[in-house]
Amino acid sequence: MAQTITTVVDYDPFAELPISRHIIKMFTARVGIQPDSKVLDVGAGTGASALEILEYLNTDDGCEGHVTLLEPEAKLLDVARSRLPMDVVDCTQGFAQDLAKMNFAEDSFDYAIWSNGIHYVEDADVVDEVLRSIRRATKTKFAAWSTFMSDAYVGRTARFAGLWVLTAYRNLGLDPKTQRVKSESLQTRGAADWRAAFERAGFHDVVTHLETFELGPEAYQAIARFGDYVENAMPPIPDRPDITLGIRSQALVDAAEQVYDRLGVKTLPRNWLYMEAAP
Ligand SMILES: C[S@@+](CC[C@H](N)C(=O)[O-])C[C@H]1O[C@@H](n2cnc3c(N)ncnc32)[C@H](O)[C@@H]1O
Repeated sequence: MAQTITTVVDYDPFAELPISRHIIKMFTARVGIQPDSKVLDVGAGTGASALEILEYLNTDDGCEGHVTLLEPEAKLLDVARSRLPMDVVDCTQGFAQDLAKMNFAEDSFDYAIWSNGIHYVEDADVVDEVLRSIRRATKTKFAAWSTFMSDAYVGRTARFAGLWVLTAYRNLGLDPKTQRVKSESLQTRGAADWRAAFERAGFHDVVTHLETFELGPEAYQAIARFGDYVENAMPPIPDRPDITLGIRSQALVDAAEQVYDRLGVKTLPRNWLYMEAAP
């Protein structure tokens, strides 16, 4: 077990991994963004998806077009501002749920994308409302992708997921049989549910596509540094307030590599769901 106890981070460690950049690059390429477009980047984080969008707006004459980042976390927007060309980018602090009251004019954006974040909206009615707001503000295409959905596990990843949390409990000297607190799943909706939600919101030509990527343990180690993920996967243990969020996070970080070793694998497959639709 590692010696140092990490604190849960307030940046996005997953976004910086080569596999994450590869996934964003691949899906952004599918969107077909044209150079002089206006693009809305929902749940923009530290700007990893915006950087990729900008690749499609750059021409020999410079950048034509504009990206609007929408992100609730001020600290993440600060990172995004420090790495993006602010003459062609603007940052708005807010949740996707705020889009309705932000009152963007109809067809304000040619494209809207939501990279690795649509799963954060849990309530079905709220999903419908958010999708309707995005549809209203978008002219040509909306695309979203996420791995936190019910079709995510492929092959031995289901086995990994079970062993991962179990191993983290054991790393903390806890008895999973008696002290384990039920995990909340972020993976409640699947491709069919998302398609139905898009259609309810009035989108048409809805396309859903599952793409499998091979993830090394570093991907799960990065995911285990997200506070909200840890709160769901390994909720607080009653009577053990000394086992803080940071300690649970570190236990999951350590357990990821241990379980890969135990399964004798270097990578494990996991699906991402890519969805696109016309407003
Ligand atoms: C995993 S990051 C993805 C960042 C970036 N789009 C990317 O692809 O790397 C998810 C982001 O969604 C943001 N987020 C969480 N709930 C949200 C919501 N309801 N509306 C918009 N963004 C949200 C988080 O703050 C976080 O920055």
